Amino acid sequence: MSPDPLFDLTDRVVVITGASSGIGASAARCYAERGARVVLAARRKERLDELAAELPGSLPVPCDVGDPAACQDLVDRTLAEHGRIDVLVNNAGTHHIGPAEDESVETFRGVVDVNLNAVFALTRAAARPMLDAGRGSVITVASMFGLVGSGQVPQASYAASKGAVVNLTRELGAQWARRGVRVNAIAPAFFSTEMTTGMFSDEGAERWMRRQTPMGRAGELAELHGALVYLAADASSYVTGTTLSVDGGWTAV
Ligand SMILES: NC(=O)c1ccc[n+]([C@@H]2O[C@H](COP(=O)([O-])OP(=O)(O)OC[C@H]3O[C@@H](n4cnc5c(N)ncnc54)[C@H](OP(=O)(O)O)[C@@H]3O)[C@@H](O)[C@H]2O)c1
Repeated sequence: MSPDPLFDLTDRVVVITGASSGIGASAARCYAERGARVVLAARRKERLDELAAELPGSLPVPCDVGDPAACQDLVDRTLAEHGRIDVLVNNAGTHHIGPAEDESVETFRGVVDVNLNAVFALTRAAARPMLDAGRGSVITVASMFGLVGSGQVPQASYAASKGAVVNLTRELGAQWARRGVRVNAIAPAFFSTEMTTGMFSDEGAERWMRRQTPMGRAGELAELHGALVYLAADASSYVTGTTLSVDGGWTAV
């Protein structure tokens, strides 16, 4: 059966950062299963090679997104291999948990560098060929903590950087709206990954998370696929500058 054209991703060239684990690896599998040609970026080369071996036609590109030259190299290698970029998924991210009064300015800067500055550097590099082609979709993995504060899980730099990418999404979406390049974000709640090991291995914290979530549970990684496919595909052709919450209702209350 041929795929519904609204959600068809056959042969789309999709660059995914943070593809070495968690949400990024899950997104890469999801896009590859739908026939996309996935480009896998992160620092841990061996992890990328393992995933690439699983996904025929994928291209692993070791890349530290904190380095703007490496971001440009990722774009150049994708263009050399595939001739275009249809979708960029800005998923690489980091965090620091601890009270703001104890968080050093250097730590704060380090988180903002990966979660915000790198998103700008890579989006800017990837958008140029997209704008030349007059089509493209950028999806940034923000967080519900880009829409609301956390407090109970103190993370000033994370909340600041995720809030900033939500508004960067609005601004870039508006700037490129007439040029065929759409820019959107998703805002997940808690999903079990390396980043959230502390939360999921602490019974009290996990109970708190379930109590706070209207659906009463964490998300499953596959529950992000609907939003990731929708924003990448033609189904969202009139959607730009928006952030789609995938949070079991966390930001609804
Ligand atoms: N899990 C959740 O509950 C949750 C909720 C909301 C939002 N998010 C967001 O989802 C995204 C993915 O996180 P995750 O939960 O899947 O955690 P994860 O498993 O720890 O994945 C983080 C990914 O980012 C990559 N990364 C970090 N720094 C990088 C850098 N400088 N250059 C290139 N890649 C880098 C890591 O790869 P390398 O170490 O190999 O470089 C890794 O693949 C993040 O943006 C996170 O903020 C997660």
